[in-house]
Amino acid sequence: MIKVFIAGATGWAGSALSKGICKNQGMKLVGALSRKHNGENLSEVLGIEGGDIPIFDDIETALDTTEFDVLVDYTKPEVGKKNVIAALKRGKKVVIGTSGLTNDDLKEIEDTANDNDTSVLAVGNFAISVVLLQKFSEMAAKYMPNYEIIDYAHEDKIDSPSGTARELAYRLSQIKKPNVHISQDELVGDKATRGATLDDVQVHSVRLPGFVISVEAIFGLKDEKLTIRHDSGSGAEPYVKGALLAIEKVGSFKGLKRGLDTVMDF
Ligand SMILES: NC(=O)c1ccc[n+]([C@@H]2O[C@H](COP(=O)([O-])OP(=O)(O)OC[C@H]3O[C@@H](n4cnc5c(N)ncnc54)[C@H](OP(=O)(O)O)[C@@H]3O)[C@@H](O)[C@H]2O)c1
Repeated sequence: MIKVFIAGATGWAGSALSKGICKNQGMKLVGALSRKHNGENLSEVLGIEGGDIPIFDDIETALDTTEFDVLVDYTKPEVGKKNVIAALKRGKKVVIGTSGLTNDDLKEIEDTANDNDTSVLAVGNFAISVVLLQKFSEMAAKYMPNYEIIDYAHEDKIDSPSGTARELAYRLSQIKKPNVHISQDELVGDKATRGATLDDVQVHSVRLPGFVISVEAIFGLKDEKLTIRHDSGSGAEPYVKGALLAIEKVGSFKGLKRGLDTVMDF
């Protein structure tokens, strides 16, 4: 039985995962983090049959008083980084669902996991269809090393780019860095319109009402182009299955792994 603690268990993604864990025979939800519901029982807050699941508003108090195996973080980047590092320092295994952590943050997290002989799995998107988008895009980058990424989201998404776009840029750059046809120095006009450069990849973020979350990898060659696009619906269900798999697999290695595919059979 894997004992799980969720930071952000009352949120949009965390509450769906909490319900998924309660239905899973091999896992037990033993605690949660939320400022608004501090001191309450998560089972009552979410209307689930999970027994007594205490809610804390501070990770250190939770670590002092609750026994668990895996922390899942589904909060915000700055809070998430603090939670993750605190849990790793106590030897806990960690699954990061929170988006917005930078490569530098992940390097610090990796070092902390190694120093404490434990493991962390960071997944920008737990949906299986996104794992497939990543895989197909990696195949394309090998043969079409001219590409850019566009991420679309609702107007109130605070992190930019999305975790999915950030992870995709990192992955594609590991396959083949994109060709640069006109460098930043040679550009005329407003350079910001070319987007941000992440791991040498141009990434463009659109934030408008009417969008949920979408990501597009566009590959170009002379006289041909390929677009690989993923669109999320409005429910959190697609993330639950992948997050449950991540919880199961995070104990199977040491250090940091990025992406759900790193623990899947391809
Ligand atoms: N990897 C994936 O597949 C995936 C899927 C969906 C979402 N995400 C990411 O997961 C994160 C959460 O998304 P969401 O839509 O669920 O957000 P949300 O609905 O706003 O939920 C955020 C949760 O974090 C808690 N929280 C926020 N600040 C906190 C603090 N300082 N201390 C303790 N708890 C705190 C909130 O509770 P209180 O406000 O009560 O503190 C709430 O439970 C985002 O980064 C999102 O991009 C990733």
